[in-house]
Amino acid sequence: MTEPGDYLAENPDIRCFEEFIKSTPYQKEYISVVFDEEVMLISLSGTPGVGKTTASLILKKRGHKIVDLNQLAEENEFVVGFDDKRGSKIIDVERLDDFICEHFTKEKTIIEGHLSHLLSVDIAIILRCDPIVLEERLKRKGWPEAKIKENVGAEILDVIKVEAFEVVDKVYEIDTTSKTPLEVAKVCENILEGIYEEPKINWLDKYEHLLF
Ligand SMILES: Nc1ncnc2c1ncn2[C@@H]1O[C@H](COP(=O)(O)OP(=O)(O)O)[C@@H](O)[C@H]1O
Ligand SMILES: [Mg+2]
Repeated sequence: MTEPGDYLAENPDIRCFEEFIKSTPYQKEYISVVFDEEVMLISLSGTPGVGKTTASLILKKRGHKIVDLNQLAEENEFVVGFDDKRGSKIIDVERLDDFICEHFTKEKTIIEGHLSHLLSVDIAIILRCDPIVLEERLKRKGWPEAKIKENVGAEILDVIKVEAFEVVDKVYEIDTTSKTPLEVAKVCENILEGIYEEPKINWLDKYEHLLF
């Protein structure tokens, strides 16, 4: 069976992709069309614990401009309250979006954070993680049971992906479960180069029973 990457290795001219896309179980898209327009703002989003911050640190080391959305929100007083029930900060996303459009559209910038897909970005890269593995990661972080359950449920139900599709035309998912952070960063870089070939993600079929 052809594995992701094989086709690319044999066909460095990605214009040959379209035929292959039609006959593959992988999510592939000839996306360089997007990049005809200058892509400036890139969201790196996903359920908490999927590895956004870790991947973004590597991308930063590799020379990409990264904005940590949570930090930016804190520093610029876009945190407007605290949701006691959910145990999370309430952020004024609209004002944050205005700020980002004003300050970060002059060079290609990756905005990392679980709300970044709600901003006026050109593309959204959504990191995903097998819900069982995600649960373990959040447990290790010492998160309370209810918060873990909420986030694992959101991951199973594709909540961030669905939200992203509502506001961004180009949405690309990466399953981080068996990738190293460096591998995740490299897939992000490929997407920025116009190359995307990742297996389809469907947690719901496998993990629906965990929702009840
Ligand atoms: N690709 C990966 N493989 C295994 N563990 C990872 C990976 N990426 C991140 N982690 C671990 O998962 C946890 C959550 O990662 P983090 O980057 O903080 O996620 P996020 O920023 O999405 O909340 C951390 O303990 C981190 O070390
Ligand atoms: Mg983080």
